[in-house]
Amino acid sequence: MLRITPPETALGGFSQATLYNWHKSVGLLFLLLALARYTWRRTTRLPDWADSLSPGERTLVHWYERILYLAMFVMPISGYVYGMSGNYGVHLFSRVHLPNPLPVDAT
Ligand code: HEM
Repeated sequence: MLRITPPETALGGFSQATLYNWHKSVGLLFLLLALARYTWRRTTRLPDWADSLSPGERTLVHWYERILYLAMFVMPISGYVYGMSGNYGVHLFSRVHLPNPLPVDAT
C-alpha cells in the first residue's frame, strides 16, 4: 500500500520545506564550486594526453567533459529558476532569505 508522508514530517523529523531549502542551499554551493572549477579549467594548462589514448578516445573524453559541465550548470540553474519563478524562494542554510530577482510565474 502506498503511504504518503505528511509534508511537515518528511524525513528524519525535518519538514519538507526545510529539506527543500537545504537541497537548494547545497545545490547553489555546488553551482559556485562548478563555476570555480570551470574558471580553473579555462585558465590553466591541461597535462599532455596519455600516449595510449587514440584520437577517437580523446574526442570522446572532450565530449564527456562538456556534458558533465553542462549538467553541473543546468541542474542547479534550472532548479533555481523553477523555485524562484514559483515564488518559493531560498532560505539559504536556514539562515538568510535570498531575494527573488525573477518575475513570478503562476504556472
Ligand atoms: C547540483 C545541483 C542540483 C541537483 C543535482 C539537483 C537535483 C534535483 C533532483 C534529482 C530533483 C528531483 C527530485 C524528485 O522529483 O524526486 C530536484 C528537484 C528540485 N530541485 Fe534540485 N538539484 C540541484 C540544485 C537545485 C537548486 C540550486 C535549486 C534551487 C535553488 C533546486 C531546486 C529544486 C526544486 C524546487 C525541486 C522540486 C521540483 C518539483 O517540484 O518536482 N535544485 N533537484
